[in-house]
Amino acid sequence: MKYILASNWKANFTFEEAKIWFESIGSKYNEVRNEVRIIAAVPYVYVHYLSSYGIVDVFAQNVSHVKQGAFTGEVTVSMLKSVNCKGCIVGHSERRHIFGENDDIINKKILSLQENSMEIIFCIGEKLEERKEGKTKEVLFNQIVNGLKDFERFDLLIVAYEPVWAIGTGVPIEIPDLIDAENFIRKIFKDNFNIDNLTLLYGGSVDKEFVKKIKQETTMNGALIGSASWKPDGFIQIIDNFINA
Ligand code: PGA
Repeated sequence: MKYILASNWKANFTFEEAKIWFESIGSKYNEVRNEVRIIAAVPYVYVHYLSSYGIVDVFAQNVSHVKQGAFTGEVTVSMLKSVNCKGCIVGHSERRHIFGENDDIINKKILSLQENSMEIIFCIGEKLEERKEGKTKEVLFNQIVNGLKDFERFDLLIVAYEPVWAIGTGVPIEIPDLIDAENFIRKIFKDNFNIDNLTLLYGGSVDKEFVKKIKQETTMNGALIGSASWKPDGFIQIIDNFINA
């Protein structure tokens, strides 16, 4: 089983804090790298410097959907590639719902990453009202099929199921609901793309207790973790709990 624990820094960390995190998690990773892959999705400005550590895999949290040219302020896939960035988060709910990214923009970003052979953490997830209205499966299906239009390099793909209502709330999904979503997502990939070894993470208020449940009670491949991963000691505890579960 391939396991991943990915830390999503969001808009946090000074450069000094970033270096301290990398030093702590980097030395921990030397002990555990055969058991779990650690990814850090960091702000653009730190990607180049942190990639040079060469220990924890560095991803960006966003990338432009344009390739290059007169687009003031944009950071492109080829720029990220040129500083040894391994991959990028695409479709995170904060980008979909705060910055208005739709499936079409998300698809362009994914195809551009594919063209450059970079990995993709593709986030999908329903809002609370969609869950209450019984639309979870429809929302997930549409996000997957629209986001992955013309996509072929499934070896580059990591999917993160992150119910919007569980992100940053301190309340993760209940395990039976997670198992239900996992089965549904894996079936979509099997039925539509003939993929039966999808790398699938859960995200949304994951903490040191919930990682144990993910490992013991589901067949998910790990987690995408926000706030509980920001303090090095807290993330090390998460890594230990996951490995020992
Ligand atoms: P959280 O964030 O762990 O703080 O809920 C997860 C995410 O947004 O990826």
